[in-house]
Amino acid sequence: MRVAVCRELGPPEVLELEERETPIPGPGQLVLDVRAAGVNFVDGLFVAGQYQIKPPLPFTPGSEVAGVVLAVGEGVERFAPGDPVIAMPGLGGFAEELVVGEASAAPLPDALSFTQGATFAQSYCTALFALRERAGLAKAESVLVLGAGGGVGLAVVDVARALGARVIAVASTEEKRAAAVAAGAETAIDPAVDDVKTRGREFGGGGVDVVVDPIGGDLAEPSLRALAWFGRYVVIGFATGAIPRLPANQMLLNNRTVMGVDWGAWTMREPAAHRRLLDDALGMAASRQIHPVAPTEYEFDRVADALTALLDRQVTGKVALAR
Ligand SMILES: NC(=O)c1ccc[n+]([C@@H]2O[C@H](COP(=O)([O-])OP(=O)(O)OC[C@H]3O[C@@H](n4cnc5c(N)ncnc54)[C@H](OP(=O)(O)O)[C@@H]3O)[C@@H](O)[C@H]2O)c1
Repeated sequence: MRVAVCRELGPPEVLELEERETPIPGPGQLVLDVRAAGVNFVDGLFVAGQYQIKPPLPFTPGSEVAGVVLAVGEGVERFAPGDPVIAMPGLGGFAEELVVGEASAAPLPDALSFTQGATFAQSYCTALFALRERAGLAKAESVLVLGAGGGVGLAVVDVARALGARVIAVASTEEKRAAAVAAGAETAIDPAVDDVKTRGREFGGGGVDVVVDPIGGDLAEPSLRALAWFGRYVVIGFATGAIPRLPANQMLLNNRTVMGVDWGAWTMREPAAHRRLLDDALGMAASRQIHPVAPTEYEFDRVADALTALLDRQVTGKVALAR
């Protein structure tokens, strides 16, 4: 079986494929036949050495997978060989076979394909955590989503609609705006043409209740200014590479709140709460309240191309390595 290995930090091309023996599960572990691995923005940050966590070299990136259980270790109770599952190893997911702890795995719902399952947890749990746990989104509230055609952005649109909110999406290409509308946005705007502050205020009838920002950069301030009375600005990430500096007077006005989302850290500090959130998100997928898009698929040995396409903004929605 093959794994993708990062031996030096740099662009995605530094990743090399390496042959390994099939792993053996220890107590409480599963070995998965990985059918699909989700490719996320954070994988590019790990490989470039730009993520806040810096694993020692060499390492295998890849934080989420879907596959079939090949073998189970002693004491595993929830899974048996042949079960379709998703798992969140954190690292190591760009592998054809993988050992994971039982606690990091969950049954793959029938409603999701392997590629949808492999690209589900990071985007959808972040979206649900951001909207429900952090922003306290209520029915009929309005939400402005930046980077709405990206992995997190599309999931936020989908979850916000499922929670009964109205969504205005902001995305750079026609394809991404169409995807956001297909995911449930009422309207989608082009920040190169439309004024985000004005359009956001119009959409919210004076202001939007929530802004969700996975990209940072120049659109942050006009989006903050688009917030209504008691509006909440949710900081998720900085895909533009630019960390915005938001003016404090704009937080004071209208009693606005700027709040951070660090879903990854929350999963480690509050594993039981995260388990409930993941079960809720998977339940929403199983009952088709949410509709994860089919990811763009790459063969396993094109891992560098897959990551490059994502980092170059070429991809609408999600990317998966598929076998
Ligand atoms: N805080 C958390 O817990 C958490 C959890 C998951 C992810 N994240 C972070 O959220 C961010 C988005 O993740 P994602 O998976 O949605 O990424 P993605 O699928 O690559 O989407 C990011 C979007 O950002 C926009 N963008 C603008 N400038 C860009 C640039 N220079 N390079 C790349 N994209 C650019 C693109 O939309 P347009 O072309 O329309 O501008 C793109 O669709 C990342 O920074 C990730 O690390 C944070």
